[in-house]
Amino acid sequence: MTNHKIVVAIDGHSSCGKSTIAKALAAKFGYVFIDSGAMYRAVTLYALRHNLVAGGELKRDELIGALSEIKIEFKYNPVSKKNDTFLNGENVEEEIRQLPVSQNVSPVATIAEVRAAMVRLQQEMGKNKGIVMDGRDIGTVVFPDAELKLFVTATAEIRAQRRFDELKAKGEDVSYSEILENVKERDFIDSTREASPLRKADDALVLDNSYLTREEQMEWAIERVEERLDDR
Ligand code: CDP
Repeated sequence: MTNHKIVVAIDGHSSCGKSTIAKALAAKFGYVFIDSGAMYRAVTLYALRHNLVAGGELKRDELIGALSEIKIEFKYNPVSKKNDTFLNGENVEEEIRQLPVSQNVSPVATIAEVRAAMVRLQQEMGKNKGIVMDGRDIGTVVFPDAELKLFVTATAEIRAQRRFDELKAKGEDVSYSEILENVKERDFIDSTREASPLRKADDALVLDNSYLTREEQMEWAIERVEERLDDR
């Protein structure tokens, strides 16, 4: 195997396990893993904290005006062995995964100016390749020339169950039906928005993991990376 590095772009629906695959691939190949959704979540947390989402109404123009005040970084956490997300110097990794952020993130991610700012950061992070990034528009907009593009999906019910189990395991008090509703609503907003809607890139490979174990899907994904590395 040669030692050149590639870009792996992983897109797909909410809660389908994209980040799990991306993280494991990055660990296997010694690549950087970036969860682009965490960046939209951090912007959303900023908006919530600054009352820019009052009564379900998002103050778009004020949020756009505040973008230069929002600094997002990732720092490696040796305990969890993954990157933690920092918003203006504060570790917000836990808080951005909670339901208030999930319930407001898709409208925030429809704002073209927010997307432009995040995409710029993401492209900067990937300029030396050796990166696995997951999101909604990674293969279509952020890295249209990525050597490997995966599009991951599973049924909405299975995705909601996984997210439910994950939050329950963290001791959070959540209901399955509320999560299922959130999953379906985000699918709808993400796929129908005007700015970079979620869609499969023409050259992406589809991975429906509804009935695959983690091991099975990892084996498949690792083989796809190895194929691309052998291509050159
Ligand atoms: O973890 P999950 O797949 O549920 O969501 P996420 O990847 O954390 O992303 C949260 C939200 O951010 C998504 O529902 C999208 O609305 C938005 N997002 C986006 O628009 N573009 C990306 N590249 C990543 C996330």
